[in-house]
Amino acid sequence: MSSNQKLYEGKAKILYTTADPEILLTYFKDDATAFNAQKRGTIVGKGKINCTISSQLFKLLEAYDIPTHFIDCPAQDQMLVKRVKILPIEVIVRNIAAGSLCRQTGLAEGTIFKFPLVEYCYKNDSLQDPLLTRDRLLIMELATPEQLEHIRNLALKINDILKSFFDQCQITLVDFKIEFGLDANDNLILADEISPDSCRLWDQSQTEPNLRVMDKDRFRRDIGNVEAAYQQVLKRILTQVG
Ligand code: TMP
Ligand code: ASP
Repeated sequence: MSSNQKLYEGKAKILYTTADPEILLTYFKDDATAFNAQKRGTIVGKGKINCTISSQLFKLLEAYDIPTHFIDCPAQDQMLVKRVKILPIEVIVRNIAAGSLCRQTGLAEGTIFKFPLVEYCYKNDSLQDPLLTRDRLLIMELATPEQLEHIRNLALKINDILKSFFDQCQITLVDFKIEFGLDANDNLILADEISPDSCRLWDQSQTEPNLRVMDKDRFRRDIGNVEAAYQQVLKRILTQVG
């Protein structure tokens, strides 16, 4: 396969081929979307910030034996990754009630859970990423029962690692979305990104609901200071990893 061919363009990233068929180059864009791309904008510097944050978090997870697609970060907004077949499942882990969970259940925002909630959505823009039940997911053959068990265990382990790391950054990990892929040998690998686009992060030094938001909710809810919040997350992570 020839190198640097555009393979796929998503809302926040572009995937290119490389000289090695098993390795892809991800370019992180400054484009931001919300509500299934009904809202569009630009967050200046987001590509570089999210790529750097994701790279650091993937490295952290690898150190705890979580397999990820991360290979290298050759430029601030570029990540070399292992080629995988992405499973069309958005895995969401929640520690505190927020977002769609509050809208759908009436739980008050900020309710702290006794145990993490793991949810699955169907990654399908035309259906607006609907919430799946375990049985729906299996009937649709989006994963095997064994893969689903493995995904759930990995998601909970990832939550434990990230929650305590963000705590050290004085940031509360409210919830996050991750995606998994299968490599050439059908091994399940953490893919996509982990960034303020895909996590809810609350600043522990702030108590006022809008002031504490350090993630894409600033863009979704027009709170403002989006770039500064993303920069602050990056700064704290880099300080923590040393
Ligand atoms: P939700 O409360 O809107 O369902 O979002 C849960 C988490 O998933 C939150 O951290 C934001 C993240 N997320 C994405 O990464 N992509 C999406 O398309 C959506 C809807 C949420
Ligand atoms: N990423 C999703 C979109 O653009 C939604 C979101 O993050 O709120 O549409």
